[in-house]
Amino acid sequence: MSIKYLPQKKLWLLETKNTSYALGLDEQGNLHQLYWGQKLPYAEDYPLADINCGQSSFDFREGFAPLEYPAWGGLIYSEPCLKAVLPGDVRAASLEYLTHEIEQAGTGKSQEVFRLSITLKDRYWAGLQVRLCYNVYYEFDLIGKHAEIINKGDKAITLESVQSGIWNLPEGDNYRLTHLTGKWAGETQIRRTVLTEGKKVLESRRGPTSPHANPWFAVDSGNAQEEAGEVWFGALRWSGNWKIVAEQSPFSALKVTGGINDFDFAWELEANDAFKTPEFIAGYTDRGFGAASRQLHKYQKKHVLPADGRDKLRKVIYNSWEATYFNVNEADQMALAEKAAATGVELFVVDDGWFGQRNGDNAGLGDWYVNAAKFPNGLKPLIQKVNDLGMDFGIWVEPEMVNPDSDLYREHPDWAYYFPGVPGTQARNQLVLNLAKKEVQSYIYNFLDDLLSNNNISFIKWDMNRHFSEPGWPEAPVKKQREIWVRHTLAIYDIVGKLKKKHTNVIFESCSGGGGRVDLGILQYMDQFWPSDNTDAFDRLKIQEGFSQAYCPKTMVCWVTDSPNYVNGRKLSLAYRFHSAMMGTLGVGGNLNHWTPEEIQTAKDMISQYKEIRGTVQEGSLYRLLSPSAGDLTAVQYISEDAAEVLLFIFLHSSQLGTGKRTVRLRGLEDRALYSIDSQEQPLSGAALMYRGIELDIKGDFESRLVRMHKIEK
Ligand code: DGJ
Repeated sequence: MSIKYLPQKKLWLLETKNTSYALGLDEQGNLHQLYWGQKLPYAEDYPLADINCGQSSFDFREGFAPLEYPAWGGLIYSEPCLKAVLPGDVRAASLEYLTHEIEQAGTGKSQEVFRLSITLKDRYWAGLQVRLCYNVYYEFDLIGKHAEIINKGDKAITLESVQSGIWNLPEGDNYRLTHLTGKWAGETQIRRTVLTEGKKVLESRRGPTSPHANPWFAVDSGNAQEEAGEVWFGALRWSGNWKIVAEQSPFSALKVTGGINDFDFAWELEANDAFKTPEFIAGYTDRGFGAASRQLHKYQKKHVLPADGRDKLRKVIYNSWEATYFNVNEADQMALAEKAAATGVELFVVDDGWFGQRNGDNAGLGDWYVNAAKFPNGLKPLIQKVNDLGMDFGIWVEPEMVNPDSDLYREHPDWAYYFPGVPGTQARNQLVLNLAKKEVQSYIYNFLDDLLSNNNISFIKWDMNRHFSEPGWPEAPVKKQREIWVRHTLAIYDIVGKLKKKHTNVIFESCSGGGGRVDLGILQYMDQFWPSDNTDAFDRLKIQEGFSQAYCPKTMVCWVTDSPNYVNGRKLSLAYRFHSAMMGTLGVGGNLNHWTPEEIQTAKDMISQYKEIRGTVQEGSLYRLLSPSAGDLTAVQYISEDAAEVLLFIFLHSSQLGTGKRTVRLRGLEDRALYSIDSQEQPLSGAALMYRGIELDIKGDFESRLVRMHKIEK
C-alpha cells in the first residue's frame, strides 16, 4: 500500500519507492505536514501533529506549525496557500479537516499513481471547502499536489491567492536554492544561492512562463553534488503567471510554496463552482541533482507528455527560420526540402512568413490565410513535394498575437487586451489577443482546425513573441477582469487539447521566442520545446545543461545552423555543431543551399549516426558528468533504457597550458559488465570506466567527440 491512513494517530503516510511524506491532524483538526524525506520504517517514527507549538506570543500555534495548506487568517504571516474573501466581507479563512478518500491505483504494479484527497472546510462558513489532492508517483519518488477550492454556499466568493501547495523541509540552516534564470537567447541558466531568513521569489508576471525564470526548484542541504547528497526538488505544471517562494523563518524552517502568481490575480468563485490549481510536483533524493533530474525526466515521459506521441521517437527536423527568415516562397522552400531530404531529415518545417501580408514582423499576424504572392498555388504543392521526398510537413503559427497592421485587427480591435483610453504598448509590432474571450478562442481553434483538416500537416510550431501589457478586458464584469491571467492559459490548453484529440498524429512544439514557454503544464499538451533562439552550439551547452535539470532530452529540440552563428558570430566546425545538437531532438536550421557538398555529406553521416543512437538519447538516462560552467571540458553521458548502449559526448573549450590527454569518469554502469568502446580495441569493465575513467586524446579549440560504448553480452 502506497498510501496508508492510521486512524489512531490521525496520520496519512504517502510512500514512494524510497521516500515518504506524512500528514497528520492535531486535536483541533488542523492538517500538518509532519515529514518529507527518506522512507522511515515504522509508523512510530513519524511525529504527531501539535498545534500547541511555538516560541512566544509572536510565533505560535498556526503561525508556527508546518500547516499543509494554510489559509490566510489568524496568526499566519508567512506565504499562505489561500487568501479568500468570504460572504460578509470576511477576508480570512480557517480550515479544519472534514473527510478523506484513498484511491489505490491498480494492483500495486510499479509505475502506477496512487491517489489521496483530504477535504478541509472553513470553521465558520460552511460554504467553503478545500479538497487537497495528492498523486503519488511511486516509481519515480515524486508526489504531486493540487487543490480544489469548492464553493458549496449560495453566494460568490473571491479568491485572491490560490497556491498549489507548500513543501515544508526538515529544520535546517544551510539550505541552498538552485534555480533557472535567463533571458532571450540565454535561457535556463543555473544559479545556486544560500538561503537565509526571508523570501526568495521565483516568478513570472508576464503572462506566459517566461525566459527569465523557470517554474522548477531544487533545494539541498548545503553540500549536495551532481551525484550525491540530499535534494528536495519540484516543478509546477503551469504555463501562465506563476510563483515559487522559498521562505526561511527565523526558526530554521524552510517552506517552498508554489502555484499561480497572485499578482493582479482574482477569481470570482460562483456558488456551486470549483477552482482547481495546477499540480505542484516534488520529490526527494539522497543521490544529488543528477538523480533528481532523472526522476523528473522519467516521470514526464510516463505521465506528462501527450499520450499519442509519448512513446514515439522524435523525428529529425528541418526548420526554415534561420535560412530564409520571412522570405519563404514555394520555389525556395522546395529547393531546401530537396537538400534536407538528401541529408536524412524526416520532418520539414516552414517557419514564419507564409501567411497574410507577412513580409517582416510588422504585419500579418492574425491573418491566417496563405500568402498568394509567396505560394500562388497554396501550400499543397509544397506539402506534396515534401511528402514525395519522404518527409512529414510542419508549419509555424503564432495564434495568440495580432499585428495592428492586419485585417483581423482592423476588424476586431477589441480582440486584443486593452484598457479603455490607454494606447496598447506594442512589442515586435504586435499586441496580445484576449484569449479569455470565447470568440477569440473559436477563431484560433477554427483556423488551426481548418489548416490541419485541409492539409497534410504533421507538426505545428506554436510561437509567442511578446509578453502581456494592458491586460484589460473591458467588456467583462469588473470582478472577472483579473481572471485573464488564468483564463488565457486555460484557453491555450483547451484549444491544443481539442486539436490534439481531433488530429491525433500532429506533434506540437512549444516556443516563445525560444524558451519562454518551457514548463510541465504545456508539456501535457505539446510534445516538445524550442529551448532558445540561441543556436550557437557552444552557448547551447549551458542552455541545455540548465534545461536538463528539469526537462527530458526528448523534449529538447536543437538545430544545427550556419557558422558563423547569427547570435554571436562564433565559428564552429560542423561536427561540433552536430554533436551539441545530437544531445536532444536533432534538427537542422542552416541554409542548406549554401552548404558545400562536403558539408552536406557530413550532415548526412551525422544524421544517420543520430538515427542509430536517438533511442538512447531520447529515452535513456542522462548523466551530466562535467559542467560547461566548470572547467574547459563538458561531458554528458546517456545510458539506454536496457542499459546496453552508452554514449559519451565530450566538448573541449580550448586547450591551455600544455594539458595533454583527458580522462572522463562515467556513471551508472554495471561494475562487472564489459563494454566495447568504438574508439579503442580493448573493452573495459563498467568499474574501470567509472572509477579509472576513459582516456581521450582531445586538444585544440572547440573540439568535440562522441564515444559509443556497448555492453558485451556474456
Ligand atoms: C521566434 C522563434 O523562436 C524563432 O525560432 C522563429 O520561429 C521566429 N520567432 C519567427 O518569428
